[in-house]
Amino acid sequence: MSETADVYQHPDRNLALELVRATEGAAIRAVPFIGKGDKNAADGAAVDAMRKFLATVNFRGTVVIGEGEKDEAPMLYNGEVVGNGEGPECDIAVDPIDGTSLTAAGRPNAISMIAASDRGTMLDASSVFYMDKLVCGAAGIGVVDIRQPVGENLRALAKALDKPVGELKVAILDRPRHAGLIAQVHEAGAGTSLLLDGDVAGGIDAASRDGQFDMCLGIGGSPEGVATACAVKALGGLIQTVLAPKDDEEKQHGIDAGLKFDHVYTADELVGGDNTFFVATGVTDGSLVSGVHQLGPIIRTESIILRGRSGTIRRVSADHLVEKWLG
Ligand code: FBP
Repeated sequence: MSETADVYQHPDRNLALELVRATEGAAIRAVPFIGKGDKNAADGAAVDAMRKFLATVNFRGTVVIGEGEKDEAPMLYNGEVVGNGEGPECDIAVDPIDGTSLTAAGRPNAISMIAASDRGTMLDASSVFYMDKLVCGAAGIGVVDIRQPVGENLRALAKALDKPVGELKVAILDRPRHAGLIAQVHEAGAGTSLLLDGDVAGGIDAASRDGQFDMCLGIGGSPEGVATACAVKALGGLIQTVLAPKDDEEKQHGIDAGLKFDHVYTADELVGGDNTFFVATGVTDGSLVSGVHQLGPIIRTESIILRGRSGTIRRVSADHLVEKWLG
């Protein structure tokens, strides 16, 4: 029986359809803080809303990947148990706002996101803050390798996609540390799209069948890398990552935690199994999803819901009443 038929013959619950209420809630509660210059206040409102809604979900979720340690922002902390205490045991990765600075500045591309998988399947990379990442669509599988020079990968991907290298668009976080990487992309003849923040959305776009980017490259948060892997699995794309410790001390913490260095983590090593879920709701307008919009008495949210087992991609638009949420 084909996998598609199996999904039809044995329909089961899609946890992400419930988790999306938590990302919607986080995005909505961040609205009063969009463009107001206080990223911790935005994050705090989103965290509170996400926690409240997670408590309603019929599952026992352990936060394997929380967010906030980097800048001591308010957080759903690692090890926190969420959900109503019944149902399946899961690992979850949360980022109530990926793009807190974008939100505070009123810039595009901030999202609220949650990824989930079976308990014990998500890599806890929290002891090493950054990882080097390569994300692209299915065409790159068996074709590109994060250990190869950038130019070589771009030429190989262009060939696989049957288009000139000059037409490739590569998303990279706009950081001084990426100056050399950006130069290599340009030397190869490909174009860059520099992201102010938010390499989860950039990676998902690059792995999508209908995205704007052909590849997403560079060093970004490890938590974001694991969350991206949950989405990439549903999209059938490729993600490869290598831990990028800031110094020897951080590397030692990673070694003590059982992490491997000079090792390419594949999607399956970042999150095992196919029972993966990823949900994101736009906070501000972006290429992946539109941001929260207030239209008179209505707050409109847009979310994307991905499921590894079925490969289903849903886009959910929801209208919420202002008086119930922000009144
Ligand atoms: P936060 O909004 O959670 O701070 O993350 C934004 C982000 O751009 C991530 O998407 C990315 O992985 C990480 O920060 C990169 O870290 P840095 O800003 O230190 O380069």
